[in-house]
Amino acid sequence: MTTAFTKQTTIPITELEQSAFCQTDGNLRTKTLEEEFAAGVRWQKVPTRYLKLTPEEIAEGIEFARNEIGEKAVLLGHHYQRDDVIQYADFTGDSYKLSKMAAETKDAKWIIFCGVHFMAETADILTSSDQNVLLPNMAAGCSMADMATATDVSDCWDDIESVLGTTDQVIPITYMNSAAAIKAHCGKNGGLVCTSSNADKAFDWALERGEKILFLPDQHLGRNTAIAKGISEDDMAVWNPFLPMGGLSEEEIKHAKVILWQGHCSVHTRFTVDQIDAAREKNSETTIIVHPECTQEVVAAADMYGSTEMILDTIAKAPAGTSWGVGTEISMVRRLAAENPDKDIFCLDPVVCPCATMYRIHPAYVLWVLEGIMAGLAINRIEVEPETQRNAAVALQRMLEIAG
Ligand code: 13P
Ligand code: SF4
Repeated sequence: MTTAFTKQTTIPITELEQSAFCQTDGNLRTKTLEEEFAAGVRWQKVPTRYLKLTPEEIAEGIEFARNEIGEKAVLLGHHYQRDDVIQYADFTGDSYKLSKMAAETKDAKWIIFCGVHFMAETADILTSSDQNVLLPNMAAGCSMADMATATDVSDCWDDIESVLGTTDQVIPITYMNSAAAIKAHCGKNGGLVCTSSNADKAFDWALERGEKILFLPDQHLGRNTAIAKGISEDDMAVWNPFLPMGGLSEEEIKHAKVILWQGHCSVHTRFTVDQIDAAREKNSETTIIVHPECTQEVVAAADMYGSTEMILDTIAKAPAGTSWGVGTEISMVRRLAAENPDKDIFCLDPVVCPCATMYRIHPAYVLWVLEGIMAGLAINRIEVEPETQRNAAVALQRMLEIAG
């Protein structure tokens, strides 16, 4: 089964599904698919034989398939994947590192992307046409990426042009967490892609070429990066795609140096300044480190901020005995704590809550796509259509060039 899927695919997360995975007792045990479906998830359907498989049966199946397929398959895992998936990854990384790896993976015919839809699309754009990128569960999207649709972004661009008379001086930057069509819009219009590890360089690149930035779709990463560049909040405006003209006046559009799309990450906006205060009250020696998808107040209150890779690296290199309050996704924080038993590492949010869309990659889905490969089937192949791919590649190459 080949599925040419270029549109955004996220099945919206229901409250029931989110609450099925948010735990106050610290328990994040991977259940059988049947149990997870019973807990209220609405993921892509898989053949019934996968529903009741035990973790041991899945592990045996994956090991067998990997041996049969050999080096023709590479499994990439984003840091937010659950441990039960990460254990099978050949390479792990943040969005930037994984996109570079995909671009450098020349020999693998099959790239199994354990992450979310926009990451698999990016891998497809950066790899050759004889390589197949598979996303084990098509429902693994990103709710933030879905907040910017191609139509809304195109309407916004036209509106800005109607106010300014031209968009020549407006440079669009899209966060990696966006659909391929949004990346293509940026490529076509003199802009680029960034990730949380190179947003500052993307701002420099853009401001050397234009007077204004349209930043998509995460307002928080955009605001945090702009503030770090010395741009005042008075020189930023937030574009609400649900309102005519983004809810802005002509004056506001003309004045803004940075127009921020009104998108956010539902995981990172859970972190609060109160949680930081509580962590410091417990231990005044704790260092607070957060992801830049957190709100500006949280980033300002933290001691440090950076991409997932930066957080991992900083804590791994820290001296034994240090204490770290971390503001990012729980699967990564718990793995970090397990890998650094000589340090006190905890998540700022007392409720254990994974990214519900990342969590949609279950080991049984990994087995399903691997068994498909053995049978000569490209299950859940992500194929970005050629024109979108060409334009998006321009924006991605600009990022790869500035980020090195
Ligand atoms: P990075 O991988 O760029 O740190 O981003 C985190 C994230 O939210 C991925 O969806
Ligand atoms: Fe999207 Fe946030 Fe999940 Fe990242 S953590 S995939 S931005 S919802």
